[in-house]
Amino acid sequence: MSSDPLVVFTPSGKRGRFPKGTPVLTAARQLGVDLDSVCGGRGICSKCQITPSYGEFSKHGVTVADDALSEWNSVEERYDQKRGLKPGRRLGCQAQVMGDVVIDVPAESQVHKQVVRKAASARVIQMDPATRLYFVEVDEPDMHEPTGDLERLERALREQWQIEAVRADLTLLSKLQPVLRKGKFQVTVALHKSHKDNVARILEVWPGLHEGGLYGLAIDLGSTTIAAHLTDLETGEVMASSGIMNPQIRFGEDLMSRVSYAMMNPGGDREMTTAVREAINTLAEEIAKEAGIDANLIVETVFVCNPVMHHLLLGIDPVELGQAPFALATSESLSLNAPELDLTAINDRARIYVLPCIAGHVGADAAAVALSEEPGKSEDLALIVDVGTNAEILLGDKSRVLACSSPTGPAFEGAQISSGQRAAPGAIEAIRIDPVTKEPRFRVIGCDKWSDEEGFWEETSVTGITGICGSGIIEAVAELRMAGLMDASGLIGSAEQTGTPRCFPEGRTNAYLVHDASAEGGPKITVTQGDIRAIQLAKSALYAGARLLMDERGVDKVDRVVLAGAFGAHISALHAMVLGMIPDVPLEKVTSAGNAAGTGARIALCNIGARAEIEKVVRQITKVETAIEPKFQDHFVAANAIPHKTDPFPELARIAPLPNPSFNTGGDTGGEDGGRRRRRRRA
Ligand code: FES
Repeated sequence: MSSDPLVVFTPSGKRGRFPKGTPVLTAARQLGVDLDSVCGGRGICSKCQITPSYGEFSKHGVTVADDALSEWNSVEERYDQKRGLKPGRRLGCQAQVMGDVVIDVPAESQVHKQVVRKAASARVIQMDPATRLYFVEVDEPDMHEPTGDLERLERALREQWQIEAVRADLTLLSKLQPVLRKGKFQVTVALHKSHKDNVARILEVWPGLHEGGLYGLAIDLGSTTIAAHLTDLETGEVMASSGIMNPQIRFGEDLMSRVSYAMMNPGGDREMTTAVREAINTLAEEIAKEAGIDANLIVETVFVCNPVMHHLLLGIDPVELGQAPFALATSESLSLNAPELDLTAINDRARIYVLPCIAGHVGADAAAVALSEEPGKSEDLALIVDVGTNAEILLGDKSRVLACSSPTGPAFEGAQISSGQRAAPGAIEAIRIDPVTKEPRFRVIGCDKWSDEEGFWEETSVTGITGICGSGIIEAVAELRMAGLMDASGLIGSAEQTGTPRCFPEGRTNAYLVHDASAEGGPKITVTQGDIRAIQLAKSALYAGARLLMDERGVDKVDRVVLAGAFGAHISALHAMVLGMIPDVPLEKVTSAGNAAGTGARIALCNIGARAEIEKVVRQITKVETAIEPKFQDHFVAANAIPHKTDPFPELARIAPLPNPSFNTGGDTGGEDGGRRRRRRRA
């Protein structure tokens, strides 16, 4: 048996014997232990910090003597004096193995560290970014051996980091010579490795050791808002999150009206492309400023978006997406350079990755949800709905995943609702109606108290009560149903029928008064029959989409429901079920995944393997096209009743039995099918 010292690494448990004098970093590399290094062991980057443990370790069968590692050396001393090393820490590239030793690699020294996410059920993000920093010492030019600076830099990368097939574009080349000389031929390069062609591109070069960090943007490009997360590519930390309105709204509120704008106006698609690219530049500038970083350090951007946004971002006329068979210009993922998308606010060699689309109506945003929520790895049958202006729906488990998108329209976001407003301070976000007194109480954004709690009116005096946002309107309609003020067909009863003056006539139908602030010059907040119809249309589209996927799968039940989307986080599971937005499942089986599309974008930004994974997963997803599926209309009509005309909701009946009044007096009710009309796609 070898008498070489035994080295045990924790937490990996990897172990091996190494000759005395072996640097810990070398031992780690040979064993495949995840220990970081940017400077390649020169003692200047401090990424390789380790913590040796001393004493008896019966678990590992090792006793570690005080002199198990070489003595603290001058490099460590210098680093400690300059920056300070935490007590007990050593630099792995300097400390040498002298005896049996147990070495802990702290999380921050691991290249593939895991980023903890807030939601307990969510997958962790394992860091393995496409772009990383490498410090190299480049040979100085020599008259007797003429070679270019780039070639010597490539040689240094090959010899010092075993990196082959390096590319640099002209803009990089034009700055390379001064940077090399400024750094005395020691430079740090940001190198992007493609998961597709194995090419390593030099995105940036700095003199000496670059310690300013490296950043990426994960962008969820929605038809209404554009949300970005500025992420540290070394730690995975989100430095800042910000969003702006999509300026394309001025060309049309929903997807189809933007496609129509492009069809009707020559050059209209270019106008929309320019508008969205300008907005992304503004957003990138703002978010970098907010985080206090130089926007030139943003070297990667990942986009997720629906197919129309995808085409308009890329400068492709979306006209084909407006008509069957809804052909995408490409459904593949795209790897691009920032200038190709006119992204001038970030590093001009930054790489762009656009996730693949699933189908002509099911975009890269749905792919991102699949990446984040992993229905294809689920043991039980999961229905994932990303509720927005367009609902992206995924149904699946280990055996098969199906996807569709359904045109819910903007009602769930408080648009096209008489007292609707966006989610902002003053908006009613939650509401309860007493089933006996029929009186409402509510909560508004910006105040934690309910309206019947002491202090509520003082605390809301500045914002006032201004309207109802998306989650508020869903709760309001469900509460009207639970309180017996609205029947299963969606009709609001009159004051006589319901016994409350809060129900009042409005035209030929009735409305319910939530709050009257008109005496103080504020609005009269009501839920009208028209609002209920709008919510019925939206929820029927969502449910019909889910049912279509269930038909495809041959089931009439799912095991669990995941509500995704920024809005999904605020929907109460009970109210969503009373409304019949989602199929009947035990309430505890309804969970919220937050902004799953944005999370998917972050995963693809932080982990290069996730890009290859989602490209493969997308190819395996069965696409279901709601627009041409005749059964969609039937499901849509049946779903118009609240919660449903024919589908039983036994779980719901168990926890919240619903009263069953009928307010149809034979007048104009909007029709049993809830104003059945040709649905058109929106987003
Ligand atoms: Fe850079 Fe040790 S590897 S300081």
